[in-house]
Amino acid sequence: MRKKIVAGNWKMNLDYNEGLSLFSEITNMVKDEITGSQQAVVCSPFIHLHSLVQMAKGYDKVAVGAQNIHQNESGAYTGEVSAKMVKSVGAEYVILGHSERRQYFGEDNQLLAVKTETALKNGLKPIFCIGETLDEREAEQHFDVIRTQLKEGVFSLSTEQFSQLVLAYEPVWAIGTGKTATSEQAQEIHAFIREEIANNYSQEVADNTTILYGGSCNPKNAPELFAQPDIDGGLIGGASLKSRDFLDIVKVFN
Ligand code: 13P
Repeated sequence: MRKKIVAGNWKMNLDYNEGLSLFSEITNMVKDEITGSQQAVVCSPFIHLHSLVQMAKGYDKVAVGAQNIHQNESGAYTGEVSAKMVKSVGAEYVILGHSERRQYFGEDNQLLAVKTETALKNGLKPIFCIGETLDEREAEQHFDVIRTQLKEGVFSLSTEQFSQLVLAYEPVWAIGTGKTATSEQAQEIHAFIREEIANNYSQEVADNTTILYGGSCNPKNAPELFAQPDIDGGLIGGASLKSRDFLDIVKVFN
């Protein structure tokens, strides 16, 4: 059985103290309210990571992740943070390939393939994001875009490496817009992603891969989205900044 995960992506929000107090609310609520085997993941800015990992000790249903790493192991890259550094504070996950990194920081599939290798080499589990823009969907290119992102970004990994990955389908037109993909649209793409994995690896690998949906996911629409057979959880932006909303989304899997 593949793991159900609800991951919060805080993006560039919350100062240190704000982050710690939100996380403390989240851990308390998880302890009191989560009865299933799902996992809540919080992907914070680097600045919070060490403290959040300390605060998460003893809460096995809460994990912590970063939102980026540099592709190289170390060196003269002023301002960057390496996978080893992220791992050394005890973080478990790292988001890679988010559309905001692709769009604002020019990250392409080739670079993301290197970052993925670097993350895995350092024992981090990538949450690898893929998804089409509005133009691409309107031109009916969404399946091709997703196939290419998978092929160039992650399909050169070995089976063993690929098994460490979580995938996240985030249609760019649904991110931060309040416009969610319908559960049918999301399920169609998730099923397609799983089929591509089966074609490139095996049905067993495909069946074991956790595929999250992201894009204006909230406590209202999460139950229908997560009821789809190929949707294994969510990657949550805005709603992950409110403990009540985030927990209500995590609780869908109770
Ligand atoms: P929103 O939930 O704010 O649309 O953001 C989704 C996202 O980008 C998560 O990575």
